[in-house]
Amino acid sequence: LGMVKSFKYMIVGGGVAAGYAAREFDRQGLKPEQLAIISKESVAPYERPTLSKGYLNPNPKAAARLPEFHVCVGSGGDRLLPDWYKEKGIQLILGTEIVKVNLALKTLVSAAGEIFKFQTLIIATGSTVIRLTDFKVEGADAKNIFYLRELEDADKLVESIKMKKYGKAVIIGGGYIGLEVAAAMRINDFDVTMVYPDPWCMPRLFTPAMAAFYESYYENKGIKIIKGTVSVGFNANANGEVKGVKLKDGRVLEADIVVVGVGARPLTALFKGQLEEDKGGIKTDGFFKTSMPGVYAVGDVATFPIKLYNETRRVEHVDHARKSAEHAVKAIKANETGEELEEYDYLPYFYSRIFELSWQFYGDNVGESLYFRDNNPLSPKPKFGSYWIKDGKVVGAFLEGGTPEENKAIAKVSRLNPPVGNLDQLKKEGLSFASKF
Ligand code: FDA
Ligand code: NAD
Repeated sequence: LGMVKSFKYMIVGGGVAAGYAAREFDRQGLKPEQLAIISKESVAPYERPTLSKGYLNPNPKAAARLPEFHVCVGSGGDRLLPDWYKEKGIQLILGTEIVKVNLALKTLVSAAGEIFKFQTLIIATGSTVIRLTDFKVEGADAKNIFYLRELEDADKLVESIKMKKYGKAVIIGGGYIGLEVAAAMRINDFDVTMVYPDPWCMPRLFTPAMAAFYESYYENKGIKIIKGTVSVGFNANANGEVKGVKLKDGRVLEADIVVVGVGARPLTALFKGQLEEDKGGIKTDGFFKTSMPGVYAVGDVATFPIKLYNETRRVEHVDHARKSAEHAVKAIKANETGEELEEYDYLPYFYSRIFELSWQFYGDNVGESLYFRDNNPLSPKPKFGSYWIKDGKVVGAFLEGGTPEENKAIAKVSRLNPPVGNLDQLKKEGLSFASKF
């Protein structure tokens, strides 16, 4: 048996949530050697959204590289370099995968057989990508078929972009990864084709009117879009490198690089049978406590109560990863001191940046949607948005091309849920409706 390392607090997973949790532990007061973070990745926590944006910038001088984008720079905070953890006496145990967990005995076991013991655990294992090999798609293990989740994935993609200069890229999936990586590949001068089964891109969030704008914007950038079909197989050359993407409708697309973004799934398998689950995630209360005392779950893996909507949800976006981590640490500390803490009261916030575009969304995209303002894909700085109205109240708002003040206004209106008398009037007022609050 290996030596057992014991810590008062442990975080399993070293992504966005882990980094923000570490900062919050420090703010709340931490003694050296009380906290350890165990991460499968070989680098300190960083702002994951950079991987599909600045990291893929073709200009070597402008491309984002570590240590630039360690947390917490993505939300305007200080950058926590590996030395910061050292100075604080926080053990950053990198390149270490936890493969076995016994929550009742409060132990974690790594792939190398190391044993860790904790008093309080935060689960922050995030998500993993869904792979086409999971569905046994023929040839899906060919070389140059990429996924994008971790730094290592991004490095492989960047390497291949250099090798296949001016080549053809096929992007599978029309969600977040699909849209962001298609834009990045085009900026890298690839001939880009997107393929997705849905009738329009990003149906999770976009209405047909919103999607129509982005699709024509992409087409104007020279990106080809094939909707309503999926890839059913891949051809490879003698070196095992992908050469063609076979579509269900019979077409074959030439490809030097394929990037797949067909969704993610939360990494909960380690805890199966040991924790209550809900909606595919680990069930927590409004303090991110799981069904096991002393065990918390945050970020992508947590299914938590959203007070605003009186239901439980899982959120796979960075803002929630940051805020849930901070809230869990506050809850852990409040538990120790007996202080009062409010339950998490989250307003969902998602964003994306592609080409020169940038959008933000707040609230809930349910009920009736109402599209407003200029949607000309050729206008130099497009600005348009959407409200969602449920039971006569604004419950969500989306804005493309907003200024910081305008984005604040749509956030506010999504939180306040003002009643809407007349939809035609709201459409006419557009953004100025939100700016009134
Ligand atoms: P996260 O995935 O960040 O971290 C989990 C960590 O746990 C990883 O380091 C992993 O290796 C480690 N781990 C897992 N299992 C382990 C084990 N058994 N042992 C040890 N370590 C283990 N959101 C948004 O709002 N706007 C955006 O623009 C983007 N952009 C974006 C781009 C790309 C490429 C991705 C992949 C994702 C985004 N997101 C996003 C989503 C956002 O990044 C995501 O919601 C957060 O990173 C979730 O934070 P977590 O800490 O929960 O998981
Ligand atoms: P997603 O759920 O956003 O999109 C998946 C897409 O793949 C959907 O359009 C879906 O219809 C399509 N699809 C499903 N099966 C398919 C198939 N067999 N062939 C072709 N298309 C198929 O997931 P994603 O884009 O892979 O993103 C992964 C994770 O990363 C998510 O958690 C996401 O929230 C996160 N992320 C977020 C951002 C952001 O917030 N800006 C950016 C990048 C990634």
